[in-house]
Amino acid sequence: MSQLRRATALAHPNIALIKYWGNRDAYWRIPANDSLSFNLEGLWTRTTVTFRPDLGTDRLVLHGRPVTGETLARVQRVLDEVRAASGLAWSAEVLSENNFPMGTGIASSASAFAALALAAAAAAGLTWSERALSRLARLGSGSAARSVPGGFVLWRAGRGHEDSFAYTFAPAEHWALADCIAVVSTRPKVVGSSQGHALAATSPLQAARVADTPRRLALAQDAILRRDFAQLAEVVELDTHLMHAVMQTSQPRLLYWHRASLEVMHAVRAWRAAGRPVAYTLDAGPNVHVLCPATLAESVAADLAVLPGVNEVRVATVGGPARVLEEDEGLASN
Ligand code: PMV
Repeated sequence: MSQLRRATALAHPNIALIKYWGNRDAYWRIPANDSLSFNLEGLWTRTTVTFRPDLGTDRLVLHGRPVTGETLARVQRVLDEVRAASGLAWSAEVLSENNFPMGTGIASSASAFAALALAAAAAAGLTWSERALSRLARLGSGSAARSVPGGFVLWRAGRGHEDSFAYTFAPAEHWALADCIAVVSTRPKVVGSSQGHALAATSPLQAARVADTPRRLALAQDAILRRDFAQLAEVVELDTHLMHAVMQTSQPRLLYWHRASLEVMHAVRAWRAAGRPVAYTLDAGPNVHVLCPATLAESVAADLAVLPGVNEVRVATVGGPARVLEEDEGLASN
């Protein structure tokens, strides 16, 4: 056997149309509610995991810089699971990079932990199913469970580790949608999503949001299956406001919106009222994801770019699943 066990994987971030906010079980990252998303083609994280007998401890290197602390601990949770399942006792070196600059405010934890899960499992020689890999990715970041399968994805909350995983309900080719990301701030967020999930239950609105999720999820899934943009727009914006209402009423209160976020939201509402198929959604940050049919992405991105406070617009279409790369693919830029 070779003295190195190495694999490289690539995964896309995803944008949730029905959001995950709050955990029923924080240790296993079992969410309070089901969620629905699509992967973002054109944006990716690429991660190489090498298990080596000569390393005393796990090492994480992001964009060439060693990282320790809480981020390394989350990576180790995934590596430990792989070591336990494979019987491999070696420490690992994890090298990771994104093709979207860190600090553009585009969440990278979903693509990062999906790529890590695939690379670590492959490096250890585990041939796991997509659903097992989705569970593994979830242990690092909940939304990473949704970056493992491709296209339009549903994550059923489940009751425990075994039945909490994401799967594709429509392939990427089903509907050519785009996400035009209006970047209004590149500052790191004050309260990250792991801390934020822990606060969700302190809002009196969380129980109502969770109770209504099956209805919104069914509406969103139906809108996607029938390619009904108007129905999708209504439910996506409602879901965003429900999640932000919970954030804004938790203790302490979390207000992720900036002035420029509101500028974009108002512009999108006006455009839709004038008959343009656009809708917005925001995650745990101020940047605004503006959804539209892919054929309109160029004009929507151009109009977003000139709104006050918008620094940059990134356009992504519906992306495929996370995948292990061949040795030579791992070196090429994708
Ligand atoms: O996976 P996390 O812990 O980064 O949580 C993601 C939370 C949101 O992005 C706000 C919503 C979602 O469903 O992606």
